[in-house]
Amino acid sequence: MRSEKLFNESSKFFPGGVNSPVRFYKPYPVFISGGKGSRIMDVDGTSYIDFCLAYGPLILGHSHHAVRRAIMEQLEKGWLFGAPTELEVKLGEILSRLTGMDMMRFTNSGTEATMHAIRLGRAYTGKKKIVKMRSGYHGAHDYVLVSPGSGAAGIPSSPGIPDETSKNTLIAEFNDFDSVDKIFKENKGEIALLITEPVLGNIGVIEPLDGYIKFLREITEKYDSLLIMDEVITGFRIKYGTASQFYNVRPDLIVMGKIIGGGLPFALFGGEREIMEKISPSGNVYQAGTFSGNPLSVSAGTATIMELEKMNYDIFKDYLHILNKYVDDARDDFNEKITLNGIGGMFQIFFNNEVKNVDEALKSDSERYFSLFNYLLEKGFYLPPSQFESLFFSFVHERGEIESLGRTVYEFIGTHKDRK
Ligand SMILES: Cc1ncc(COP(=O)(O)O)c(C=O)c1O
Repeated sequence: MRSEKLFNESSKFFPGGVNSPVRFYKPYPVFISGGKGSRIMDVDGTSYIDFCLAYGPLILGHSHHAVRRAIMEQLEKGWLFGAPTELEVKLGEILSRLTGMDMMRFTNSGTEATMHAIRLGRAYTGKKKIVKMRSGYHGAHDYVLVSPGSGAAGIPSSPGIPDETSKNTLIAEFNDFDSVDKIFKENKGEIALLITEPVLGNIGVIEPLDGYIKFLREITEKYDSLLIMDEVITGFRIKYGTASQFYNVRPDLIVMGKIIGGGLPFALFGGEREIMEKISPSGNVYQAGTFSGNPLSVSAGTATIMELEKMNYDIFKDYLHILNKYVDDARDDFNEKITLNGIGGMFQIFFNNEVKNVDEALKSDSERYFSLFNYLLEKGFYLPPSQFESLFFSFVHERGEIESLGRTVYEFIGTHKDRK
């Protein structure tokens, strides 16, 4: 197996053989040689229907012709200038119109974008503490790699992060109104901002309860704190625009990434003009990046957003309906604890009766999920290996491919009784 050989080589140069930890799974990950449409191919020539889609960006599938053309055209003209371009203005105008953000700043990754949005939120409000949800993910920087400590104050979730930083990050429970209320009451006058994903997508998929996002808007307003919506996954994933629009809420700042870069490194934070003008050089909150707004990413992003305008997001409802049918049958026919959560083009299967909050997600049988992952891989389906990720549809998946995923999940449950 070439993947195994490559992994042994790779492990000499990269910790764990990979350049991002989610890519590792036991005994070794398959190494990918290419992708086209809904399929990727590994170095041994095996083809898979891809429901990982590079963890979300590739809503148009692999190597989409319009995105490829935009990148190629830009390649001819040069790919980095360290100076502003017309391309940025055009994408800024499109995104402002489609999302309602007055102003924005382009970055290269979601991690950078949330880090700078948080710095901006602290500077704007003049307050130090921030609130995030337990198991919400906002990238790999110190402000947000924080786990629950005693009370709401956070502790570092990785060695190397100072306690002094983490204790200013307070941890609330997604979908628990009281936990948020309590934190705001107990830290009155000290909370700069609350940052959350509108739909949790890094603990599997968990939708907000009715009224929860509105409640977050109201409580942040009441306590003079900012609401930052992290739409790195949900932007253009649930509708043609933001999930904030879907839930009818106007956050102070929005962070976007993944889809809006069409598969190239790209993200942004943006929102109200009065807040965004505090960013340097119009304001004094420092933020910078050599590759920010680079022409290749901006071209790929623009082409993607323009293509998406032609797409019908309702197709994802049909796809979820198809999968749900198989999951329901598996539950009934084999007495399996299984459920499917999904909205728009993001979904996840949990081995639990239902998952409406983080505790229920954590209680689902993640070992069984890993067995399902391996079974599906063997049968030609590529998924994220972890229970605690989202799976994604693209607009180039075909109905038959969704049926076949559902059928294979059903088959796994009928033939694998090794559950806890
Ligand atoms: C909601 C959310 N925010 C931020 C990030 C970080 O983005 P990046 O990996 O581009 O740094 C991610 C990445 O998965 C994410 O899902």
